[in-house]
Amino acid sequence: MRIFDRPPVSAAMGFVVLALHLGCGSAIATENPNRELGKALFESTALASNGKSCASCHPDGKGLQELDAYDDNMLREMINFCIRDALKGKMLPNDAQELESMRLYLRSLQR
Ligand code: HEC
Repeated sequence: MRIFDRPPVSAAMGFVVLALHLGCGSAIATENPNRELGKALFESTALASNGKSCASCHPDGKGLQELDAYDDNMLREMINFCIRDALKGKMLPNDAQELESMRLYLRSLQR
């Protein structure tokens, strides 16, 4: 499987940012997009109006094995479709920190 678009430096920085935020007890960071925020969102029901999380249907990345077929824009769209259709939530703006964080998290599952 090919691995691309993996930014080790920014992921490491994201970890620092999230660690700081967890220290403050805030689950939803307002800093740069980062994989750890994406993971937290993936596992939380915060984006849903029906009490589901992404992890309800995709535990351990189930159903997400073909992500390398998608470019980043497609992946953002797929995330938003699942927010809208599966979580009955509000789609996120394309440049939202939350959306970008989930995209980074999903990429990190991709290997
Ligand atoms: C109610 C169940 C459900 C929930 C909740 C859900 N999904 Fe999905 N998701 C699906 C189904 C079903 C598909 C289509 C899978 C397929 O095409 O085989 C899918 C497809 C996807 C895909 C495309 C993967 C592919 O290879 O086709 C992505 C990315 C994705 N979901 C991300 C998410 C994210 C992120 C969340 C949370 C915001 C989420 N999903 C929540 C059921 C769900």
